[in-house]
Amino acid sequence: MKRVLSGIQPSGELHLGNYLGAIRQWVPLQDQYECFFTLADLHALTSLTEPSDLQRFLHEQVVTYLSCGLDPDKAVIFKQSDVPHHAELMWILATVTPMGLLERAHAYKDKVAKGIGSTVGLFAYPVLQAADILLYSADLVPVGKDQKQHIEIARDIADKFHTRYGQVFTVPEPMIPEEVAVIPGIDGQKMSKSYNNAIPLFASDEQLKKLVMSIITDSAGVADKKEPVGTPLYEIFKLINPEKAEQAAQMLRAGGYGYGDAKKELLSALQDFLSPLRAKRVEVEKKKGYVEEVLQDGARSAKAESGKIMDRVRKLVGL
Ligand code: TYM
Repeated sequence: MKRVLSGIQPSGELHLGNYLGAIRQWVPLQDQYECFFTLADLHALTSLTEPSDLQRFLHEQVVTYLSCGLDPDKAVIFKQSDVPHHAELMWILATVTPMGLLERAHAYKDKVAKGIGSTVGLFAYPVLQAADILLYSADLVPVGKDQKQHIEIARDIADKFHTRYGQVFTVPEPMIPEEVAVIPGIDGQKMSKSYNNAIPLFASDEQLKKLVMSIITDSAGVADKKEPVGTPLYEIFKLINPEKAEQAAQMLRAGGYGYGDAKKELLSALQDFLSPLRAKRVEVEKKKGYVEEVLQDGARSAKAESGKIMDRVRKLVGL
C-alpha cells in the first residue's frame, strides 16, 4: 500500500487555509493509503519563543486534527518531537545537502524579509522536513502550493544521499489540488498564520462575523455591476459553497446587490460549513485523556516505522 505523510506546524491557530489546502484532502486519503500525519513541533521552534504557546497550539492542533475527521484507527497521528529519529536523520541529511539548495528556498527568504531573525534552524528547516518525509518512505505528500519547493528539496536531498551512499529512501511526490493550492486571506494575500489575515477554523461566531465583514473589496457601490471572480470574497465563498457563491456572483454582476449582502451570505454558508466540525470538536473534548492517548499510540507506531529506515541509514553511512 502506498504511503502518505504530511504535517502542520503548531505555530498558531489553524485556519481555513490549513483546512481547505491540507487537512480536508487528508481525510479521504486515510481510506486509500497508509497515512502518517505529524504535528511538526520541532519546526514550530523556528518561530515560537514562548513554551506555553507551543503547548497550547499543540493541544489545539491535535483536537483540530480529530475534529476534522483524522482518525487514529486509520492513520498514525504523532508529535514530531516524540520520535528522535527526525532530528537524527536531519543531521545526516544536512551533511549531503548543498548550501545552495537551501539558499534558494523561498520560505526562508520570505521569512527573513519579514523580519524573522535568521537562525541556523530557520535556514535548515527544509532538511528537517525532508527527514519527516523520508523516514516514513512516503510516496505522496499532500500540501498547499507554498510547500511545493520544500517537497522538491526533499527529493533533491534523497537523490544526493542515494548518489553518495546507495538507495534507501522513497522519492516523494507532492500532491497539490489546483483549486485549493492557495487559499486567500481576508486581505487577498495567501491566508497565513503570520499575516494577520486568517479565518481561524474554530473562530467564535462574533469573530467570524468580524473577519468576514472585513474581507477586502473594491469601492464599487451597491448599484454598480461588479465582477467577483478573482476577489478573495468570491474565491473563499466558492470553496465553502459553490452554488451559493455562484448565486451571489450573478447578483453582484447584475448590480443592485452590495458586497455587504454577499458577505452576509458567505457568513451564513461558513457557519453551516463549520457546524459539523464544531459538533465533532465537542465530542472530542468530552473524552478525557483522549488527546494524550492518541499521541502516545501515534508515537509508538511512528517510532517503530521510522526506526526501520533509520537502521538502514546508519549502516549505509557507517555509524
Ligand atoms: P504550515 O504549518 O505552514 O501549513 C500546513 C499546511 O497548510 C497548507 N496551507 C495552505 N494551503 C493553501 N492555502 C493557504 N493559504 C495555506 N496556508 C497553509 C500548507 O501548504 C501546508 O500543507 N513546513 C510545513 C509543515 C511540515 C510538513 C512536513 C509538511 C513539516 N514537516 C512534512 C509536509 C510534510 C509548514 O510549515 O506548513
